[in-house]
Amino acid sequence: MNLKIKKILSKKDKTKIVSLTAYSESIAKILDKFCDIILVGDSMANVLYGHNNTHKITLDNIIQHTLSVQKSIKKSLLVVDMPKGTYSNPKKALKNASLIMKKTKCDAIKLESNKVNFNIIKILVKKKIPVMGHIGYTPQFKKKFKLEGVNKKESDNLLREAKLIEKAGAFSIVLECVTPDAAKLITKNIKIPTIGIGASLFCDGQILVTDDMLGLSGFYPKFVKKYSDLNRIIEKAVKKYTRDVILHNFPKKKHHLNGTKLR
Ligand code: KIV
Repeated sequence: MNLKIKKILSKKDKTKIVSLTAYSESIAKILDKFCDIILVGDSMANVLYGHNNTHKITLDNIIQHTLSVQKSIKKSLLVVDMPKGTYSNPKKALKNASLIMKKTKCDAIKLESNKVNFNIIKILVKKKIPVMGHIGYTPQFKKKFKLEGVNKKESDNLLREAKLIEKAGAFSIVLECVTPDAAKLITKNIKIPTIGIGASLFCDGQILVTDDMLGLSGFYPKFVKKYSDLNRIIEKAVKKYTRDVILHNFPKKKHHLNGTKLR
């Protein structure tokens, strides 16, 4: 087994697993110092490409961004989202997951559960492709946001789904927008780590979309804590630059080229 995955598994019930998303080399370089897992998420559809859902992200988009992120990864586990439609049957899933693994040299892929694709996970794992599952709110398959696990029956259904994903061989599962009760139930009753997003403290680890927690995306659902306000910081810097250019304050003599190494 991949040593990085072994390390993630060993954290269950011991230390929390820290995860964030990245789509570029520069952000991944910073995250790699702190994160256990870096996910090249299809959330890039909303965050980078301005779509209102994740459905238009292509295999090529995911591969290109992963190649960028991969350049900075030294220690984190690199997980890559399979875009919608790229794993709709076993043959397609195996072909596309193999392509992502081969081209990007990532450590694992993530796919969303549509409650019936457990066999696909089994086939990928059998071919030595490590898989992270994703249950609860799954943006590729659900049109409307709905908190999952609000009553006992829903929580039990989620647990059943998580157990099937575990049985199929996934090494961990993202729980997105499930109730604290459901998160607690699942985390206690499966052996693989759960990574929560909007899913309470009762998970083995947490993940957020980096642009959300940095205050860059402008998308702040209740479960996001804004650790910075990059929108405001960037706006201030651009405003200063604009003023400098207009008032002939930039460039100054010290900004002249002589001897500078170019990119
Ligand atoms: O695409 C993504 O960023 C994700 C996380 C929200 C888990 O799937």
